[in-house]
Amino acid sequence: MLLYLSTWLEVEAYLQRSRGIIIPIGSTEQHGPTGLIGTDFICAETIAKGISQTRDVMVSSTLTIGMAEHHTAFPGTISLRPSTLMLVLRDYIHSLARYGFERFFFINGHGGNINIMRSAFCEIYSELPQVRCQIANWWVGQEVSKLARELYGDREGFHATPSEVALTMYAYPEAIKQAELAPLSSSTMKIYSPQDFRARYPDGRMGSDPSLATVEHGKKFFEVAVTEIGEQYQRFMTES
Ligand code: NI
Repeated sequence: MLLYLSTWLEVEAYLQRSRGIIIPIGSTEQHGPTGLIGTDFICAETIAKGISQTRDVMVSSTLTIGMAEHHTAFPGTISLRPSTLMLVLRDYIHSLARYGFERFFFINGHGGNINIMRSAFCEIYSELPQVRCQIANWWVGQEVSKLARELYGDREGFHATPSEVALTMYAYPEAIKQAELAPLSSSTMKIYSPQDFRARYPDGRMGSDPSLATVEHGKKFFEVAVTEIGEQYQRFMTES
């Protein structure tokens, strides 16, 4: 079930069956010369919708904007400051907790959100003791990262990766981009100011080769992630 395609009556009926909800969260940020600006939230949302087709679970509205300060030297990136994102998460969870939702399972598409989400949860737990939150960073799942290693080896890199680009190609084949890519350079993984980020990673990639991505790979990532993360959700819902 998708929250935004449901009525309040359907949400009320769902809450009689379950207190769990999946929240896709990502970012609106540059992803190199061929990656879509929406890559991170598209990946999270696509997987969440896939899980909702195989399980009786409510998928909530996607948080499309995350903390992307370091990408703001590239046009199109939109960022929430860490403190803002914490407040957004707090209000989002407080809203849903009011109706009886208790287990919040975030499918996350953006590394820059992780520490901020954890910090927000610390505050939320002291305010709402019945609430539990979990983060599934889709790209680090055991089966997903195994597939990425098999397909791309060390050309997977760290940002604008072929695996995430492949998943967006599968989700939006009409938006596949072509561009000449500079030879692969090794990534230092250092992240400081937006200006420094652009100087270190001039085309926005971090050690990745997204030219390896295909729609077929994207379909595989989708299927593997839906299974793997769907099982994680199930465990989260049944644990004490
Ligand atoms: Ni990304």
